[in-house]
Amino acid sequence: MSTLRQLAIEALSNLPVQGQTTLAVDAGARAILREWMLAARRGTTAQPPSAPAAAVEPPAVQQSTTPDLQTTEQKLAWLREKALNWRAARALGSLRDTMVFATGDPHAQLMLVGEAPGYEEEQQQEPFVGPAGQKLTQILTAMGLSRAKVYISNICKFRPSMGPQQHTANRAPNDEEIAACLPIIQAEIRAIRPACIVCLGGTAARGLLGHAASVASQRGKWFETQGIPTRVTYHPSYLLRNDTITARRAVWEDMLAVMQKLNMPISAKQLRYFK
Ligand code: URA
Repeated sequence: MSTLRQLAIEALSNLPVQGQTTLAVDAGARAILREWMLAARRGTTAQPPSAPAAAVEPPAVQQSTTPDLQTTEQKLAWLREKALNWRAARALGSLRDTMVFATGDPHAQLMLVGEAPGYEEEQQQEPFVGPAGQKLTQILTAMGLSRAKVYISNICKFRPSMGPQQHTANRAPNDEEIAACLPIIQAEIRAIRPACIVCLGGTAARGLLGHAASVASQRGKWFETQGIPTRVTYHPSYLLRNDTITARRAVWEDMLAVMQKLNMPISAKQLRYFK
């Protein structure tokens, strides 16, 4: 296959992930596509034309580049399938093979975004099922929520590799790895349109918001992702490492702000947690 054709196919198949599901094609491009199609039927390789192709009759309708994805469930299932062999991530060679997508309710009001799967997540192919996940479940329970009622995902869909001796050790994804996976989480957000997003830790904030600052300096404020109110708070594993009343209260205050944003009831008892 010619490099030009390969590049065109790659660019076209990435469009839906960027939110584009239809494509206007001009006469010149249509002539090239037609040439490729005829060559494929003949079983030969069409050479890219060196001069502008002759104009052909424009079709009456726009060309669609994706299946007709109507529901959020369909969009997420399609994305999950795409993510399995996400070329940008695979090409780096620094991420492990198993893809860990997301869990929870596709119609959730609240979306939580972590950094990347760790050992347990890779084993179970589900985000936040290890010790950090248990801490996250406790936080959700304190809010009156459950894992099934929210949508939980990661900025990076593959466990970052640490070489053959990795065993159970984990590391955070680097900027390259974050950038490679970013279109996936961005497409998840476009599909779900939650009322509120929480970045769990600095890696998620770096990816979604482009913020390099510390979590301490970002928490306690509202930001926006695709126009959706976004809060940055400490990663649950930070709480496992710093199990102090101050750290717990800081996260809890962010969660109270989230509950308020979502118009959730807040009891007097909940207001006093970790004080
Ligand atoms: N930490 C994360 O950020 N995500 C997971 O899925 C697990 C641990």
